[in-house]
Amino acid sequence: MKEIKILDKTFTPFITFQEIDHAIERMTNTLYEEYKGKVPVFVGVLNGVIMFFSDFLKHYKGDCEIGFLQLSSYHGGVESSGKIELIADITADIADRDVVILEDIIDTGNTLEYLYNLLEMKPVKSIKIATLFFKPEVYKKELNIDLIGMDIPNKFVVGYGLDYEGLGRNLRDLYQLKEE
Ligand code: IMP
Ligand code: MG
Repeated sequence: MKEIKILDKTFTPFITFQEIDHAIERMTNTLYEEYKGKVPVFVGVLNGVIMFFSDFLKHYKGDCEIGFLQLSSYHGGVESSGKIELIADITADIADRDVVILEDIIDTGNTLEYLYNLLEMKPVKSIKIATLFFKPEVYKKELNIDLIGMDIPNKFVVGYGLDYEGLGRNLRDLYQLKEE
């Protein structure tokens, strides 16, 4: 794999699709054991979750339903703005259901906090939060994250659904911002 350039920034290869896929398979196995005999609703947080969500479903062996919601937090750039906007609320009927929120990445935790507040008002049976990537060095909250795919260092990443200024989501592997 080679370095890539997106707009003004250079990114170096960081985690291959195969490694990501293994992490996802482990996550689905864990959840499958936890939800045996139940039909969970997996709710993906758009846009970043697209690739993860699809690969997650391909690995999940049990019955499940799906839904989405859309939030915006970065507003471009390489740092979390801290201002979260709800662009589209959950599309599935989650009343009295076991809901698992799937996030692409948890960074500061601002988005997670917003999600918890939003979900508190919903009449769900149970709720769990799962994220593919997690940046433990940046995380500032006490809120519980039920399932983490991979811990990554505090560096901006693109690919596998994650973007820089809207670009790079279609890269199959994960790339890390190169220090200048
Ligand atoms: P948080 O609110 O700071 O936890 O940020 C969460 C959201 O910011 C994620 O759902 C992503 O959409 C975005 N984000 C966080 N870190 C990165 C990154 O390294 N690259 C691209 N997007 C990111
Ligand atoms: Mg996101």
